[in-house]
Amino acid sequence: MKLNRLEVSNRVFLAPLSGITDSAFRLVAKEHGAGLVYTEMISAEGLVRGGAKTRRLMEFGDDERPIGVQLFGSQPEVLADAVQIVTQRQPDLIDLNFGCPSRKVVRKNGGAAVLKDLTLMEGMVRAAVGATDLPVTVKIRSGWDQTSIVASEAAILCEALGVAGITIHPRTRQQVFSGRANWELIGMVKERVEIPVIGNGDVRTPQDGLRMFAETGCDAAMIGRGALGNPWIFSQIVALLEGKDDLTFPSVNQRIDLCLRHTRQLLAIKGDFTGLRQMRKHFGWYTKGFPGGAQLRRTLVRLERLQDVESVFQNYQRERASYSQKFPQVAERTI
Ligand SMILES: Cc1cc2nc3c(=O)[nH]c(=O)nc-3n(C[C@H](O)[C@H](O)[C@H](O)COP(=O)(O)O)c2cc1C
Repeated sequence: MKLNRLEVSNRVFLAPLSGITDSAFRLVAKEHGAGLVYTEMISAEGLVRGGAKTRRLMEFGDDERPIGVQLFGSQPEVLADAVQIVTQRQPDLIDLNFGCPSRKVVRKNGGAAVLKDLTLMEGMVRAAVGATDLPVTVKIRSGWDQTSIVASEAAILCEALGVAGITIHPRTRQQVFSGRANWELIGMVKERVEIPVIGNGDVRTPQDGLRMFAETGCDAAMIGRGALGNPWIFSQIVALLEGKDDLTFPSVNQRIDLCLRHTRQLLAIKGDFTGLRQMRKHFGWYTKGFPGGAQLRRTLVRLERLQDVESVFQNYQRERASYSQKFPQVAERTI
């Protein structure tokens, strides 16, 4: 599949997730088969102002490629400057966020607020495409609310302006994350444009991924929440797309191994204090469904040092192993 000149090796992508898709998590997704990953959304204004914290959000390693840097904003000129700054860093593409529902972002006419004003969208896209030779993609919701569904119109507009691909999360801004993503709309947009359409929303299992391709005809599927603590979903969907149906699911021990590797990676970047605090939500996701998981999580979120995390997991594994010896009929469980 191609997004302008960028060729991606498979059609299952990691969604941009603010506060989550940092370098460490992107690498985890990449290693587990994601064909494309994105940074968290980055404020165009913040980048142009030169905030160090904002700039750090666009850092990535070559092992994360192909990678898209995602920007949000509301002023075409500022966006163009931000796009130039990002272009210097040479990611594989730049994505524009026209879907963020957060009050803080829409109040300043950014994110999903752009869906209310297609003239503004046109100005923003034109400014971004004109400021870089990298592929520019766009991520939208269905519309602002149920009475203003603009996904097809926006996609046609973006295509005409030279956008390389469009992601649709078919919920309105008003819905935020409630209800269900209306996949029918992805199929409708796919019929209206030639550029690749990336479907997004509510893919929680490998079978959901396959169903999204089948029901919408989308060119790629983008996965956010379904990959939390569960990056295996990328290679599982790729396997299903290749016609394999003997999916393998990770065991408790494999989940622990990955969680520890992810923790070490994040702490190497952020240090123990910040890294462990940011890792807490991931502990919850990786250990979801574990026997005795609630107790384990209560312990994990209080820890301040990597070696304590390692020994808590070791103890948990030791206890489970002795339990299995006592009750051999309870085999190593997959979740
Ligand atoms: C915690 C969180 C943070 C998000 N941050 C971003 C973001 O930075 N940029 C963006 O375009 N979408 C963001 N989204 C939306 C997701 O990319 C995606 O569109 C949405 O979660 C639906 O897909 P899913 O059902 O696979 O999670 C975020 C969603 C969540 C839950």
